[in-house]
Amino acid sequence: MITIDWDRLHLEAKAIMLNAYAPYSKFPVGVAALVDDGRIVSGCNVENASYGLGLCAECGLVSNLIASGGGRLIAAVCVDSNGEFLSPCGRCRQLLFEHGGNDLLLMTPDGPTPMSVILPWAFGPDNLSS
Ligand code: THU
Repeated sequence: MITIDWDRLHLEAKAIMLNAYAPYSKFPVGVAALVDDGRIVSGCNVENASYGLGLCAECGLVSNLIASGGGRLIAAVCVDSNGEFLSPCGRCRQLLFEHGGNDLLLMTPDGPTPMSVILPWAFGPDNLSS
């Protein structure tokens, strides 16, 4: 059974949030997650002068997850510029769900909450195999 160090994930999320490229929204975001092999992956938002092309922090995290060997996401913390827990946008809930499923725990102001609550009755890989 893998131990979730929420304080460490929070620190990692806050650290990478400082690297965000958010000159347009001025809303830096950082996210960090524990993978089932024990490593931690993270990401920050990367905006673009063509506004619609901006990448959310979760996009970077998922890219780092796959590029560093893949695996399943166990627990995630997303933060804003104050280090407060941030609610991932709808698209990013779907991105996280793909790689963690219903059991992925997301830290919220109410404590760790499973994706089954964050994104109920989610569409995912299982739907394509039926
Ligand atoms: N943002 C994220 O990076 N993740 C989210 O889940 C919510 C929104 C970013 C996108 C944009 O760069 C900025 O926050 C303001 O919307």
